[in-house]
Amino acid sequence: MSTTTILVVLVLLVVCGSAALQFYTYRALTLIIGERKREREAFERAVASGKPVELPVMSVSRGQGPTVSDVEETQKLKVVSPLAPRPPFPAPMVGDLTVKQWMIHAYLNDNIWARFVDSFYVRASSSPFVAPLFADKDMADIKRKFLATLLIMCDKGVDEHAAATLIDKHLHLNMSEAAYDATMNALEETLVQYRVPEETIGQFVPMIDYFRDEMVAA
Ligand code: HEM
Repeated sequence: MSTTTILVVLVLLVVCGSAALQFYTYRALTLIIGERKREREAFERAVASGKPVELPVMSVSRGQGPTVSDVEETQKLKVVSPLAPRPPFPAPMVGDLTVKQWMIHAYLNDNIWARFVDSFYVRASSSPFVAPLFADKDMADIKRKFLATLLIMCDKGVDEHAAATLIDKHLHLNMSEAAYDATMNALEETLVQYRVPEETIGQFVPMIDYFRDEMVAA
């Protein structure tokens, strides 16, 4: 209900209604306005805290404002806080080495990342949420491109342009949260399998959270 409508209702009641009716209408309207103010303040506090927040549910009035399906759609939307980390993301490090260099040195093997990608794809495709996404795809081609991208991420990090390109290449998949999480769990488990230090794995988190917000279908 808009402020103008509230004022018109009040004026009509002052002119035509009984004192009791005027009092209860006034109380009802101030309660509604107070509740909205509290919701808005809680929302602003949540945004200021820097965490992603759900939009508050809007009440639906008949014949105006959002429809029920608008509200359901709105509830699915996530507002990403302006304080959430964004690209550029630096390369995850192990001491002075980027994780790409560290792995090659640690295993004395130039081919270690290709093996890493094989292990990762076996894990990821064992998820029933992920497997259908790769059905009928040229896996050798995807793995090669994934390896190239992962190596750049793990050596140079991710800049705005690289992030936007990567997101663009995944949007047509309409990826579910479950598929995204299963893939990223597979990535984390593979990093653990290859003995990448826990602290370094932790440095992947901002990248992973950023891509989650951008790649997962709303
Ligand atoms: C986390 C959830 C992810 C899922 C479920 C996923 C799934 C897929 C699928 C199904 C394709 C094939 C798309 C097609 O050919 O139609 C693909 C392509 C690709 N993915 Fe991902 N992906 C994910 C994240 C990532 C990340 C984090 C990277 C970065 C290393 C990445 C790198 C690539 C690359 C480079 C391609 C090839 C794109 C091209 O054709 O040029 N993906 N991915």
